[in-house]
Amino acid sequence: MKRHLVSTADLTRDDALLILDTAEELAQLSGRAVKKLPTLRGRTVVNLFFEDSTRTKTSFEVAEKRLSADVINFSAKGSSVSKGESLKDTALTLQAMGADAVVIRHHASGAPARLAQSDWLHGSVINAGDGTHEHPTQALLDAFTMRRHLNAGLGKDLAGRRVTIVGDVLHSRVARSNVHLLTTLGARVTFVAPPTLLPIGIQNWPCEISYDLDSVLPKTDALMMLRVQRERMNAAFFPTEREYSRRYGMNGLRMAQLPEHAIVMHPGPMVRGMEITAEVADSPRCTVVEQVANGVSVRMAVLYLLLGGATLADAPAAAPRTDSVENVQ
Ligand code: NCD
Repeated sequence: MKRHLVSTADLTRDDALLILDTAEELAQLSGRAVKKLPTLRGRTVVNLFFEDSTRTKTSFEVAEKRLSADVINFSAKGSSVSKGESLKDTALTLQAMGADAVVIRHHASGAPARLAQSDWLHGSVINAGDGTHEHPTQALLDAFTMRRHLNAGLGKDLAGRRVTIVGDVLHSRVARSNVHLLTTLGARVTFVAPPTLLPIGIQNWPCEISYDLDSVLPKTDALMMLRVQRERMNAAFFPTEREYSRRYGMNGLRMAQLPEHAIVMHPGPMVRGMEITAEVADSPRCTVVEQVANGVSVRMAVLYLLLGGATLADAPAAAPRTDSVENVQ
């Protein structure tokens, strides 16, 4: 595993399973009265958010605090970024303050990769969503949730499971991170979307494509609904919301076409009435709230593994690893 987590394409099957298994162990903590571990005591983690976020930001913060890290929240609003400071100068400032890891969300695709490749920062870079590119910890928490529901326990991947991802694939970093990770874990991915909401070159992705949701539902083990990302759209991608919902929205009738064991997932935020009806969103088959809880365990596992865990708690920031996941560079 690399020192940074920028893309799920960088994760081998073993890396992904190590993260998921570690997350499963750490999840036991949330059932305890005292939910804290001393693992990252003395380590500084900066949450650098240039774009709005509810779930991801809070989830990272909870994960960092449960591992006893010193947490610094830095949002573009209210910082010198709004005065025109560049990413480089922001990064150099954080480095000067001794950041051991930077969790970054940025509206520009590629910003976390730029930080990871630079010598501006010596710590780990964790991508918390960059533009329409990737959102690796979301894909990891999705895989974690699927493993729990689809009978794939510790050490097991998702071989042969059929995952259907529906909606605005074009603008979705969640879809991109998921297709890499799910393929690495052996699952079969089908995208369902209007042709206008599929990216150019999707033919080269390891997935199938369908324009007919109803025909795919009976062959689905996990269904993932995506939000239509209006904030990233500069044109009309479909005629009306009503037509979109009719063809690509999840409702009670469609839920009945899924196999009995199948789950309905959503990364949030949901737009009820658009891609999902309240009936589906509130049904016991919908894992949206559970995904949020799982996000904390998965992010704890990522931080633990990238920052060296207990073994390196007292070592300097960029020290090489010496414990069981020593191939982190
Ligand atoms: C997603 C995101 O920000 O990429 N949400 C999330 O992180 N849970 C998806 C979205 O905004 O629709």
